[in-house]
Amino acid sequence: MAAGDSFYITTPIFYVNDVPHIGHAYTEVASDVLARWHRQRGDDTWLLTGTDEHGQKILRTAVANDTSPQAWADTLVESAWKPLLATIDIHNDDFIRTTDERHEKAVTIFLQKLYDDGHIYSGEYEGYYCVGCEEYKQLDDLMETPDGDYAGQLVCKIHGRPIEILKEKNYFFRMSAFQQQLLDLYANQPDFVQPASVRNEIVSFVSAGLNDLSISRSSFDWGIKVPWDDSHVVYVWFDALLNYVTAVGYGVDDAQFQRRWPAVHIVGKDIARFHAVIWPAMLMAAGLEVPRAVFGHGWLLVGGEKMSKSKLTGIAPNEITDTFGSDAFRYYFLSAITFGQDGSFSWEDLSARYQAELANGFGNLASRVIAMVTRYFDGAIPVAEPDAAILAVAKKATDAANRAIDAFAINEALSATWQLVDALNGYITEREPWALAKDPADRGKLEVVLATAVRGLGTLAVLLSPVLTKATEKLWASLGGTGAIDAQPIDRAWEWTGGPSVTPLDGTLFPRIEAEAPAE
Ligand code: ME8
Ligand code: MG
Repeated sequence: MAAGDSFYITTPIFYVNDVPHIGHAYTEVASDVLARWHRQRGDDTWLLTGTDEHGQKILRTAVANDTSPQAWADTLVESAWKPLLATIDIHNDDFIRTTDERHEKAVTIFLQKLYDDGHIYSGEYEGYYCVGCEEYKQLDDLMETPDGDYAGQLVCKIHGRPIEILKEKNYFFRMSAFQQQLLDLYANQPDFVQPASVRNEIVSFVSAGLNDLSISRSSFDWGIKVPWDDSHVVYVWFDALLNYVTAVGYGVDDAQFQRRWPAVHIVGKDIARFHAVIWPAMLMAAGLEVPRAVFGHGWLLVGGEKMSKSKLTGIAPNEITDTFGSDAFRYYFLSAITFGQDGSFSWEDLSARYQAELANGFGNLASRVIAMVTRYFDGAIPVAEPDAAILAVAKKATDAANRAIDAFAINEALSATWQLVDALNGYITEREPWALAKDPADRGKLEVVLATAVRGLGTLAVLLSPVLTKATEKLWASLGGTGAIDAQPIDRAWEWTGGPSVTPLDGTLFPRIEAEAPAE
């Protein structure tokens, strides 16, 4: 990708039936890091997130809480979903709610176009419906539970809850007509669905044949009215997927739409099918470009199962950030889990990595180097040709991290960067600047060591700024870096040559955590 290109990236829009847990925060952080990285590379970047507020699931939750779905959604958005973004330091450019007027209006335009162009017909449907998924299910998607509350019943494999049998007159989208075009898309654009495990699942699903999709409901009215028949509301997924285009001007602001679309969608693998099958088919029907890519990341597991609101295994993000801070949250989930695979969270692992990698590895390196420059040179950063071997490591780390980001391998970008952390720590241990400082004859050597170390820290500050947003800002200020840290070109991080002088760090970057982790 050339600098200056458009980079539009989205998270799913989350259901507001409940408050966020660390699974939602994981998707937000990964998307935010990719967005920050591209911004810092000079791309015309746009990060969209938001909330999914229509449908039966939200309606039932509101009713159960003696309120209206709109009031329920308003409360959850303001008290939980927007505050989540501050808790984990997300720099989003927009926040869309499916109850926004801009969204409802553009959904109507889209639907009317599909109807006018003959992609929609009316019919009758009977099938199994999972309200948790907000989806009609095939028998393959269900299982009989041997024990527990629902023993002997058919339950959804994802939610473990009984399905309902629905029979309704509905409007249908002729999705089956797009089977071949979808298969061609997967074949011609092999990185359209990532990672490979998700792609394979999608290709075999579509190869097996596609049904038409029921896109309206008439048994309740919490949704966007079907423009030609107001006794129906639009199916919640059809409504929700459209957020990605309605947020950037579809149907009302062509210039903005042309500038942003198509997007890269980051989602959990649970909803990859909606994004990699239904969504591109909808776009094809409307004559719009399909997304640039759909990346389905893995699940955070608790006790071997997907952490979820419905199973009450959710951990609130602030349980972690209150103790460890947002930087540690961001770093931990992105470095400890291969992006695209499942991962288990544990407090022990989080504490151990915080201490070893952030506090001892990176934080201590920064403190030591800045303290030595302060002590031996009165804060003036020595001017000397840096060590060639370390410089080579810095260049290699910069290039590898940037390449990894292009491949959505966020954990690899971090491990490539950590090569430089380790190399600098090893270099300092080996050169022993504290010993060199004792002999005036070694002044020149000392200058090289600290010039090299400061330059390495500058590279690390730039390379880590999308992830460790707060610590790198502090470090950057202490190194005397000019301009905002998040405006430093990240593809040339190794070229940073340093400010004239350092100022002592205000405390350490990653303080020792004394508090006990909350009980599980
Ligand atoms: O599906 N591990 O919303 P949702 C990792 N509204 N990620 C997880 C997770 C876990 N255990 N649990 C949830 C919806 N997520 C729809 C989306 S988009 C047009 C509409 C994350 O509130 C992950 O990103 O159920 C997953 O795909 C998403 O939350 C589902 O959020
Ligand atoms: Mg869900």
